[in-house]
Amino acid sequence: MIFDTHAHYDDEQFEADRDELLKSMAAGGIGTIVDAGSTLESWDKILELTEKYPFVYGAIGIHPDEVGTLNEDEMKRMSALLDRDKIVAVGEIGLDYYWDKENHDIQKKWLIRQLDLAREKQMPVIIHSREAAADTMDIMKAHAAGMKAVIHCYSYSAEMAREYVKMGYYIGVGGVVTFKNAKKLKTVVEEIPLERILLETDCPYLAPVPFRGKRNSSLNLPYVAEEIAELKGITSEEVIQQTERNARELYGL
Ligand code: NI
Repeated sequence: MIFDTHAHYDDEQFEADRDELLKSMAAGGIGTIVDAGSTLESWDKILELTEKYPFVYGAIGIHPDEVGTLNEDEMKRMSALLDRDKIVAVGEIGLDYYWDKENHDIQKKWLIRQLDLAREKQMPVIIHSREAAADTMDIMKAHAAGMKAVIHCYSYSAEMAREYVKMGYYIGVGGVVTFKNAKKLKTVVEEIPLERILLETDCPYLAPVPFRGKRNSSLNLPYVAEEIAELKGITSEEVIQQTERNARELYGL
């Protein structure tokens, strides 16, 4: 079944129908979901979701736009939460020079601190990187060598994707790959092995065509699998099966 490696069901956009939606996942072919941490407030909601739904796992971390709220006490809380049974990764963490909400040195400092914590816990990391290609690569080389990682919502060149693949990392592919103007990402999918690709939604954001602009959910992932299958000249079932194996390997499930 489909493994959604990156979702945000903790988001308030799901407030009205979260339970109904999550209960419909199995019937929609969705087997497993990892809900990624973003803000401090997201952590408790994620724990709640993992306790309520057997097929939902969580990642705990702070998104680069939000690292201004981090401090040593919160790092201690993060460390304790990472020991919980259904928390399977540190994330999402990274650099975002597009929104540029926090100064670059602050972003780098907390990315490195969270990478160090993941290494200490021997856990995989979920990396968010937007318009920060070179700095992300430098930090991953210096601080995450040999660790398990996914570069989520991948938006850089095929050449850089090949470099990440050589480092043993996964490339997260979501709704954007179905967009007509996403030539760069389509090329990435063509050029890297299926064994390194993960399906993800980043929902409620980034719904695939034909729902572009609407609220996204894991139920839309068949459209992403289909597009990847077409680009690779294989069946969408093969895409679903292999990406599920990949996700289980990454998260140790
Ligand atoms: Ni996300």
